[in-house]
Amino acid sequence: MPSQEHTIRRARPADIDEIVAIEREAFPDPWDERTLHEALAIYPGAFFVAGENGQVTGFIAGGLEDTGEELYGHIMNLAVTPACRGQGIGALLVRRLEQQFALEGATGVQLEVRVSNTGAQQFYRRLGYQEVFTVANYYGNGEDALVMMKWFRF
Ligand SMILES: CC(C)(COP(=O)(O)OP(=O)(O)OC[C@H]1O[C@@H](n2cnc3c(N)ncnc32)[C@H](O)[C@@H]1OP(=O)(O)O)[C@@H](O)C(=O)NCCC(=O)NCCS
Repeated sequence: MPSQEHTIRRARPADIDEIVAIEREAFPDPWDERTLHEALAIYPGAFFVAGENGQVTGFIAGGLEDTGEELYGHIMNLAVTPACRGQGIGALLVRRLEQQFALEGATGVQLEVRVSNTGAQQFYRRLGYQEVFTVANYYGNGEDALVMMKWFRF
């Protein structure tokens, strides 16, 4: 369980430096500072950080997408700093963003994950996500993406 001091709140521009550091530790092809600032500017309501004793321990960035027929949430980026993994922080961040998407009328949430990232796939399965299809060559190094979805049941 996350410790008592642990909080989830909306991200602010001042958090981006710490988020960049977490991002670099988590991914082989990290988003750069500018992309993170843009995500926050475009979807300020769907970008959250986990914090403990004034330090950012994880973040999640998403956005709402409207297909014309359906409104769904998209998890675009998620990482927890390595020392704080396995304490429930990732799950708290996903649930907070899901709550936001539901409030805004989404019918479900979609995300892409590297086919090699079996740990994250297992994490998302624990949270109720199912694999729906793969997208070939989705990532810069040619790796395929697994698309996973969770449908809200109201
Ligand atoms: C994926 C990630 C965000 C999970 O964050 P976390 O805070 O460690 O996850 P939690 O502690 O909230 O785990 C929630 C559940 O998922 C499970 N889980 C988490 N990581 C797992 C892993 N690597 N393998 C298997 N299960 C895992 C936990 O056991 C827990 O299950 P429980 O509810 O039965 O206890 C974190 O490992 C990370 O930052 N990874 C690198 C970046 C990444 O891959 N992001 C996702 C890209 S799409």
